[in-house]
Amino acid sequence: MTDHHNMTRLVATPPLGWNSWNAFSCDVTEADIRDAADALVETGLRDAGYEYVVVDDCWMASETDSEGRLQPSADFPNGMAALADYVHNRGLKFGLYSSAGTETCQGYPASLCRERLHAEQFADWGVDYLKYDNCGDHAGRDAIDRYAAMGAALASVERDIVYSICEWGQNRPWEWGRNVGGHLWRATDDLVAKWRADPDEFGLGVADALDRMADIDAAAAHGPSGWNDPDMLQIGNGPDSGQSEHEAVDVQRPLTEAERRTHFAFWCLLAAPLMVGTDLTSLSGFDRELLTNERLLAIDQDPLGIQGTPDRRGDDAEIWSKRLRDGGAVAFHNHGESDREISTHVSAVDVPARADRYRVYDCWTGNKWETSGSLAMTVEPRDTAIVRVTPQ
Ligand code: GLA
Repeated sequence: MTDHHNMTRLVATPPLGWNSWNAFSCDVTEADIRDAADALVETGLRDAGYEYVVVDDCWMASETDSEGRLQPSADFPNGMAALADYVHNRGLKFGLYSSAGTETCQGYPASLCRERLHAEQFADWGVDYLKYDNCGDHAGRDAIDRYAAMGAALASVERDIVYSICEWGQNRPWEWGRNVGGHLWRATDDLVAKWRADPDEFGLGVADALDRMADIDAAAAHGPSGWNDPDMLQIGNGPDSGQSEHEAVDVQRPLTEAERRTHFAFWCLLAAPLMVGTDLTSLSGFDRELLTNERLLAIDQDPLGIQGTPDRRGDDAEIWSKRLRDGGAVAFHNHGESDREISTHVSAVDVPARADRYRVYDCWTGNKWETSGSLAMTVEPRDTAIVRVTPQ
């Protein structure tokens, strides 16, 4: 028996890693992927848990071989098996991208009706993760049918491959993603490096994505080996990053520090897959500290895998919370224009109500205190305070 389909469940906690799209868009090269793998090690992100290195769209040549196999483009001169080795040799895992249509979103050959052939290629190359998009002609087949075909193909090969469904939440993939072999599924449109996007431009800003995650009410589908995905992180990105330049979106500035804290706090509260999307060779100190915050990552990676949900929305102060194995996490978000104190009580959030005393732990400062139930935090505009609350 090889290690194929071993007893360890794939992605028992949300996958962590890096993906090329937001940083490099369609200009991605083999050198960018090697640099990203090296940088994951050097920045400490690998040791913090970021494991998957995923090459998004545009890695493939514009023609398949005569049998329909995908071939790497000239920007990947050493081929995908060598690149997978390079990534594996750094203690990381390797991912690739294709689409459940005739073409990828950028018009390259994709995998519809060639699922088995391509899954075998991926396994031969040492691929550990497949992001499977929804572009190209669908040949009249619905989403469940097309995604189930690749799910079955991946299940048939002699390698464990995490299956990341990128269907943009159009057909409620949280209702069938697990059933077709998916380990995570995009619940929303593409996230852009903005706080809010205009309705007539491409994608969702961070605040738009949170509205969407609240509206779709998909938390019940979320858990070990099957995760709702609010899309990849935009921390570190701005007007010059690949996706901002490539898509029809007007990005004027990077997210502020408060907006980035909110982005990361909420993705951890949602127990979201955390795919870093910035050029790691120029990662700022602020962003490195944010992405490696152990208190936040422990909330994201909590073994129960429960998604955080809103307890109170609709005014300038929002409260969201997430049950944890030993208590809960509570987020206090200020949607308004001035500093404000936001308060709640353990009985109004997802914290086990069984104690007279609770320990409270501020995930940004590390400060600790006790409460009999009241929780209050002072929060800057667009910022988020997040605490871990543990019954004593
Ligand atoms: C779609 C996906 C993105 C990215 C691009 C690549 O927009 O949602 O995440 O993969 O395609 O073309």
